[in-house]
Amino acid sequence: MSDQAPSPPPPASPPPAAAPKAPLKSIQQREVDESKVWSLWFTRREFLTLAAWGAFLAWLGGSLLAALRFFIPQITYDPSTLFKIGPPEDYLPGTVDERWKKKRRIWVVRDTSAEGGGLYVIFARCTHLGCTPNWLEGQNKFKCPCHGSGFRRVGINFEGPAPRPLERCQLRLAEDGQVLVDVGNRYKNPKDWKKPDAYLKVTV
Ligand code: FES
Repeated sequence: MSDQAPSPPPPASPPPAAAPKAPLKSIQQREVDESKVWSLWFTRREFLTLAAWGAFLAWLGGSLLAALRFFIPQITYDPSTLFKIGPPEDYLPGTVDERWKKKRRIWVVRDTSAEGGGLYVIFARCTHLGCTPNWLEGQNKFKCPCHGSGFRRVGINFEGPAPRPLERCQLRLAEDGQVLVDVGNRYKNPKDWKKPDAYLKVTV
């Protein structure tokens, strides 16, 4: 029998280190260079193809719009040359009424009773170069601010470069008793100024 003590058991070897886990796929995706994110959705070739189609469609749309604008006429409607200015009694004898000058470019002139009491309409455009004259009540005349032409109350030119009288508009009494004016039809010659559709006789 041996008196030798039994040798101690060898120390337990440390457990093997756990193998590092492989990073999750989602983490890998976050580490992808952001400048190449588009490549996750499109290849470069697909991206260029889509861009080319987008540019082509934008060009096509613009061309179609331009063609439509060309074929659809751009119509602008002028206000009618015919309009009513109320009954003759609205205009006092012996006055040049300017209420329609700004809107319709006319003066409504009513003769005095001694002159016959009739009513006519003068187109407010200078016969020199087309400026709009002013009515000067104190001087009883129309005066053009552009080159100084002057016109008497009846519209006859008497000073400045205007070569002829102011024009008169056609007018008549409408069925409802209002004066109907047509600025599209005007008389240039004073010989026509006493025509029934140039001078409205007023009976009051
Ligand atoms: S436009 Fe009236 S005087 Fe010349």
